[in-house]
Amino acid sequence: MNKFIAPSILAADFTNLQHAIEMINNSKADWFHIDVMDGVFVPNISFGMPVIKAIKKHAAKTMDVHLMIVDPDRYISNFKKVGADILTVHYEACTHLHRTIQAIKTEGMKAGVSLNPHTPIAVLEDIICDLDLVLIMSVNPGFGGQSFIENTYKKIEQLKNLIAYSGSKALIEVDGGVTDKNIEQLSEAGADAFVAGSFVFKSENPSETISNLKILASK
Ligand code: DX5
Ligand code: ZN
Repeated sequence: MNKFIAPSILAADFTNLQHAIEMINNSKADWFHIDVMDGVFVPNISFGMPVIKAIKKHAAKTMDVHLMIVDPDRYISNFKKVGADILTVHYEACTHLHRTIQAIKTEGMKAGVSLNPHTPIAVLEDIICDLDLVLIMSVNPGFGGQSFIENTYKKIEQLKNLIAYSGSKALIEVDGGVTDKNIEQLSEAGADAFVAGSFVFKSENPSETISNLKILASK
C-alpha cells in the first residue's frame, strides 16, 4: 500500500511561503496539508482563501485542506475555487454531515471527515462508505507543535477494522505530533497518510526529513 506524507504549511515561514512550497514540490512529499482555523471551532485563527489561492498557484501536488471551522457548508464551493483537491470537515462541526459530504463530492473534491481525540470511531459507522478519507486527530486541533496522544494507535486499528468490515475505500490520515518516533507504529496500525508540521519545518533539512518519514512509513 502506498503511504502519503503531507507536510503542514502551518509550520512554514509565512514570510517566505514560496520557499516552503518549492521545497515540498521538490521533495518526496505527496500532499500539501493546509490547516484552516476560524477562531470559533478551535481557539486559533490561521489563514483563509487568499492564502490558499496563492499556495495553489505554485503547488504541484495534491492540496489536502483541513477545515477546523464551524458551518463549513457555507464555504465548500469557495474552497473548490481556490484549489482544494481533498476537503476535510470535522465531525464535531457538522449538524448534517451526510449532506456536507455529498456537497463536497458534488463540487468534484475528495471528501474527508476528521475526528477529535475524544470522538469515538463508532460515529462513522453510517457514513464510512461515503468517505474518501478519515483524518484522525492525534492532538487537540488548533495548534502545531503539540505532543502526540498515545490512544491514537488504538483508534486507527478500530478505524481500519470498520473500513475492512464495511468495504469502504477511505484512506486513514493522522494529524498532530507525528515524528520519526511514531510514524512506523502509526503505519503498522493502518494509517495511510501522515501530516507533519513542526517535525518537518523545524528540522535542519526539511526535504531530507520528509524522505526519512516516507521511508519509515513505507517499511
Ligand atoms: C493542528 C493541525 C495540524 C498541525 C500539525 O490543529 O491540524 O495539521 O499543523 O502540526 P504538528 O505536526 O506540529 O503537530
Ligand atoms: Zn491539520
